[in-house]
Amino acid sequence: MPPKSFTYFIKVFGCQMNYADAEKIFSTLAKKGWKKAADLSSAHLLVAVSCGVRQGAEDRVINWLEKTRKTNPGAILVLAGCLGHREDLKQRLRNIVDYFLPAGKRLPSSLINPLYPVLAKGESAYGGNPIYLSRAYIPITVGCDNFCSYCVVPYARGRERSLPPENIIKKAKNLVKKGYKELFLLGQNVNSYRGADRKGKVWTFSQILRTLNAVPGNFWIKFISSHPKDINREMMLAVKDCRKVSKNLHLPLQSGSNKILLAMNRKYRRSDYLATVNEIKKNIPDVVLSTDIIVGFPGETARDFRASLSAVREVGFEMLYALKYSPRPETAAFKLKDDVPAWMKKERQQKLDRVWKKIALKKNKRFLGKNTLILIDRIKQKTNRKGSVNFYALGKNFENKDVAALIKRSGKSKHNLAGKWGVARINQVGALGLSGELVEGEKNV
Ligand code: 5AD
Ligand code: SF4
Repeated sequence: MPPKSFTYFIKVFGCQMNYADAEKIFSTLAKKGWKKAADLSSAHLLVAVSCGVRQGAEDRVINWLEKTRKTNPGAILVLAGCLGHREDLKQRLRNIVDYFLPAGKRLPSSLINPLYPVLAKGESAYGGNPIYLSRAYIPITVGCDNFCSYCVVPYARGRERSLPPENIIKKAKNLVKKGYKELFLLGQNVNSYRGADRKGKVWTFSQILRTLNAVPGNFWIKFISSHPKDINREMMLAVKDCRKVSKNLHLPLQSGSNKILLAMNRKYRRSDYLATVNEIKKNIPDVVLSTDIIVGFPGETARDFRASLSAVREVGFEMLYALKYSPRPETAAFKLKDDVPAWMKKERQQKLDRVWKKIALKKNKRFLGKNTLILIDRIKQKTNRKGSVNFYALGKNFENKDVAALIKRSGKSKHNLAGKWGVARINQVGALGLSGELVEGEKNV
């Protein structure tokens, strides 16, 4: 007997772009009648949407593939995402992985055309499997042309392409109609968006923001990442003017040292970045700035690192990802000697973490005693020291801060809060987020 329906299991590693890729894979499979498997060991098709941005990420993917192959020897195993194009891995994993799918590509029909498709009536393109209940990721640009010397993205995802504005707007309207409350625009470099419409007119990122902001409905618009070199006044004003657009700007700095910025091929100097930030602060007074900093790039001296620290203090980032440099095959920096020892990278990472967390803690105090609107992602159960069980609504607010809010109501209805708006009264803040109580019975939006 053939199986009633074919089932898949998708494991996502890495960034939001991979979640968007995973949703594309879901929707292709759902259209062909595939169902989500109850677990990994029973699935007919297993897909790893991989991350290759650092060696640690690559190692985690390979471990998962090896373990999974043992757990489910009969399934078709696909390596998708940022490692899907790597020739060396094709060789190394040839006895484990059946199919390699480069990032952003669709599954070939030969692989997924089951003999007995059983698409349920009315099943959505997302196959009933959205990753978040009410946050939808919309890629607006894919690939990257910047070729930062440490980065695999231009090799893994190819040259930058902008999706047509009509497609983005149509997709956004559909998602809002379906009840999604947060549209997360994705791109390696959203602010270099240049998509041509059917008439051949080229749109900018600001035009996309303003148009989406005008779509009726209660929803938020967030986006990552912006490249500091492509921020202009037009974009700052669009972010400021658009009520639905979050004021969180993620603006990767990577290093505060001009020498390192040059070696990284970032195309701006420290002073350019700081001047941009000043302009942003002037134009968007309630801006929340976050960033990425790489520590231990080849040739980074103690002095270069101090320059990163001082830039972080000067800007006052409220969230920062400190990343240890990891040499990646194919990139220009791969040829450089990885000369900062691992222990020193770790020390710099920890130092950076201490500095930004102090800033964030101080800045987060502005939320104390205030109500903040959150989009609830999930409900978490926690047993306290006395043994009693508490339930928390976990989500993010407009500023993109993590919020945990104690739910006081009893009964089952609390589980239905996931995917809904909630108001949290903040009574405690940390560097990483805010916590408080869910305010019940209050009008939300
Ligand atoms: N090593 C360390 N960090 C890296 N990133 C990208 N490539 C590397 C690498 N080879 C970081 C950058 C980027 C973030 C997504 O990952 O800081 O902004
Ligand atoms: Fe990588 Fe630089 Fe492109 Fe960002 S801008 S994806 S760091 S090459």
